[in-house]
Amino acid sequence: MFDESPQRQTPDSLMLRGFWYRALPSDRVVRNRLAKAMLLETPLVLGRDIQGRAFALQDACPHRGMPLSCGRFDGSQLECSYHGWRFEPHSGQCQLIPSLTADQKLKVDRIYAGSYACEEHDDFIWVFMPEAVPAGAGFTRRADPPFPVPRVPTFSNKYKAAYLTSDLPCSVDHGIIGLMDPAHGPFVHQAWWWRSRDSIHEKQKSFEPIPQGFRMSAHTPSSNSAPYKLLKLYADADSITTTIDFTLPNMRWETIQAGKYWFSSLTTVTPITRDHCRIDVVAAWNTFQWMPFGAELLKFVFAKFVEQDRKTMEQQSEGLKHNPHLMLIDDADRPAKWYFQLKQAYLDSRRTGAEFQHPIAGPVMLKWRS
Ligand code: FES
Ligand SMILES: [Fe+2]
Repeated sequence: MFDESPQRQTPDSLMLRGFWYRALPSDRVVRNRLAKAMLLETPLVLGRDIQGRAFALQDACPHRGMPLSCGRFDGSQLECSYHGWRFEPHSGQCQLIPSLTADQKLKVDRIYAGSYACEEHDDFIWVFMPEAVPAGAGFTRRADPPFPVPRVPTFSNKYKAAYLTSDLPCSVDHGIIGLMDPAHGPFVHQAWWWRSRDSIHEKQKSFEPIPQGFRMSAHTPSSNSAPYKLLKLYADADSITTTIDFTLPNMRWETIQAGKYWFSSLTTVTPITRDHCRIDVVAAWNTFQWMPFGAELLKFVFAKFVEQDRKTMEQQSEGLKHNPHLMLIDDADRPAKWYFQLKQAYLDSRRTGAEFQHPIAGPVMLKWRS
């Protein structure tokens, strides 16, 4: 609709609870050492028990708030550095209060440190951030998450995988709409092997609603990029199909299939604090098995893109410091508008208890130049 004037909109930086989030890459959490992480403005302490199983606790002792990350962990119990209270790391249940005398009847095992459901998949430790904040000082065991950890889709038994992570100095909303923004490509992602700024042309893509998100439907991707031409040649496939999904709270799923070859990735933008987020890309693929540097090459290409985005957002954060008015225009910013609408719909359904009202009624064609 061209009579619609640009919409003024400022991201509200609200962080959605009730979802799994990537807390840290697996290789940053080793046995015999406690690691700190921040997730949705909640400080966490992560570690691994003797069996290597990861755990996540609120980084504050339920006694007097000392960060548990200052404590000692022997592989089975975490001891607070202040008064030596001991906790079982997976449940957070208190095991020992050294100051108690034999005749003092305080029930130690009724005390819990704030604990979070924690699982390790696809190179990351995921933590479930529940709707209700587990109080630092608690007398209840936490509930189990209502659904499993999101996984990177794979389409064969043998495949390679790699991950990439980068800190972004902006709110999760700017991180996410930056990720789904189709119009910045020719200006931010110029590279001889990808595309030039002169290759800008009109595009038309169809989108459709999916549960808690939207899909850019399967199509043959831009023919003006070298890697796709190569892939087509290599796979000896007539066509390449790509699907890009966005789902709440922060996930971008991409799947590329060419004949028997496939590539898939799950990118997340994780809220760390109000004005800080982190982008994590995990990719899996069965292409380029024959190339000894396949993984390195792919990582290099990805890293270039992510670094270009990171640098752009760093510059943008300067401009955003003093709260300028912002606008979102059609059609290039329509996915960004949908993101805010999806977020609002989720919050509304949580507040009222009513069913999630999907903001996108049906398939839509969007047009833009990039
Ligand atoms: S603050 Fe942790 S034991 Fe007292
Ligand atoms: Fe980008």
